[in-house]
Amino acid sequence: MLKYRQKNVSDINLEDYLGEYESRQATVRDLFYDRNRKSELLNGLWHYAVDQYDTCIRQHWFEERHFDAKGNTLPVDYSFDEWPTMQLPCCWNTESEKFELYDGSMVFTRTFRNQKTEGERVFLKLGAVNYICRVFLNKQYLGMHRGGSTPAYFEITDLLQDENRIIIQADSTRRPEQVPTENTDWFNYGGVYRDIELFRLPAVFIKRFQIALVPGSDFGKIRIRVQLSDPAEETAVLKIDELGIRQEISIHDGEGEAVIDASPELWSPENPKLYHVELACGSDAVSDEVGFREIRVEGRDILLNGKPLFLRGISCHEESVANGKALTDEERLENIRIAKEMGCNFMRLAHYPHNERMAQLADREGLLLWEEIPVYWAIRFTREETYKDAENQLLELVHRDWNRASVIIWSVGNENADSDERLEFMKNLAECAKKADETRLVSAACLVSYDEMAIADRLAEYLDVIGLNEYMGWYTPDFGLLNTLFENSNPQKPVVVTEFGADALPGHRGSRFDKGTEDCQIDVYEKQVETLRGIPYVKGMTPWILYDFRCPRRTSIIQGYYNRKGLLSPDKRYRKPAFYVLQKFYRELAGK
Ligand code: GCU
Repeated sequence: MLKYRQKNVSDINLEDYLGEYESRQATVRDLFYDRNRKSELLNGLWHYAVDQYDTCIRQHWFEERHFDAKGNTLPVDYSFDEWPTMQLPCCWNTESEKFELYDGSMVFTRTFRNQKTEGERVFLKLGAVNYICRVFLNKQYLGMHRGGSTPAYFEITDLLQDENRIIIQADSTRRPEQVPTENTDWFNYGGVYRDIELFRLPAVFIKRFQIALVPGSDFGKIRIRVQLSDPAEETAVLKIDELGIRQEISIHDGEGEAVIDASPELWSPENPKLYHVELACGSDAVSDEVGFREIRVEGRDILLNGKPLFLRGISCHEESVANGKALTDEERLENIRIAKEMGCNFMRLAHYPHNERMAQLADREGLLLWEEIPVYWAIRFTREETYKDAENQLLELVHRDWNRASVIIWSVGNENADSDERLEFMKNLAECAKKADETRLVSAACLVSYDEMAIADRLAEYLDVIGLNEYMGWYTPDFGLLNTLFENSNPQKPVVVTEFGADALPGHRGSRFDKGTEDCQIDVYEKQVETLRGIPYVKGMTPWILYDFRCPRRTSIIQGYYNRKGLLSPDKRYRKPAFYVLQKFYRELAGK
């Protein structure tokens, strides 16, 4: 049962009604390797209720107390299986006009049968719930997760019965202390919007499985790291049949590592070669499809497999008109294919972790990725719990996508004003990412230092690649300042221009001076490309943005609650002329 409860206080007077749920927060510690593992989907029709006042939590609906101690019937304010149903996973905003603008709590419930086999352990995985979820199983509090775009894992072995009731309270409320805060430039979709799965694992199972080329080993060594769920003495066996590899790895106290000689065909966007790898240990076995590549920085160059490259990118939100953030694989593939048709080899997944399927598809299709946590704008940099939230989201992302060749950059944030507190907060995140993963680059989308009109963000010292958002020709109308910016700057590491762009209502024409027209967007793109191509330390760009996206802050007649900086319309059916300006530039760069 719950740790404690304020005694003899009815729920209507319970001030700290949430405190008792802060225990049992699912974090990166609970995350285990699950790619290609068999799972049972709990997707499908769930009963739901809109719970604007958190009554489920206040009144402990999950205890299902229908009788008092003397057996008298008690009045209850819910009827789980008579509630209407919603098909999960989904964003409730796209499921019904009633919920289009709803920010708050909803309660979802269903029952399911379980045939547990003796000795196995059973885990629940929620692919993502925006922003907080509290989970209950068979009248018990299971735990909670904070963070709107990374998975939550809960062990349910000891709570399972033959017939089970699960309840998920999803709370999409935006709050200043969260990551991101209550103020962002994208739509706040709510819900249980990624898969809901059950995994049945042996008593001791493979919790971490990391495999990658050893950086700086002339592409001739592969490192494997294994961590088991519990301290144990074992021998794991790695197999990569296509490379004729069968390697034993000694596991002591639950951990083991091996470096083996191998000369795999290297993964790249042009040649997205994947190997089927298998790892067996004790009574557990996992597999993955892995690309082997090396990404590193040398002076002002970014080197993929030892060769300098220019990141021909585009930024992209995780959104579709039909499904909000709950994209389908077809929608993800469409985004990848349009980007590649534009001549891209790179995509910035803004501003939060996208579904893990995106990196798996990018591995297969051949597209490099920038992945980011939503340390966005004015985060509460002095608040310790906010830092822990940000760091946990970062580590959940890093461990979730560790084996993905397409992911080359971890970004610790976007457009945060330079202050001592912010520097401390983000320096720590950058160092945390480097410590967790020595095989990738760390960056952030920094702001121009306008008082110096230079690239002078103090955070750059702790980054491998400097991301730079600059809107010359748009928010800063005097385009000439872009040259001034570069004349005043002399970074000794590569810069990726992570944002430039201009709003354009699809089909709206006028002169290049008319903000909001496609002509103005063309002009901005032509000038940006012409300038950036000549800056020796600019080694990539991810213009803002692939397609228009929903944004509550954008209410002008041109915008209509959309950010119109896309190169395509929101439904991706219409391409604005600036699409072809970028395509021409990228195709020239690619020598096409
Ligand atoms: C910022 C921010 C984006 C935003 C964009 C804009 O740079 O990073 O999230 O949408 O500018 O103003 O359109």
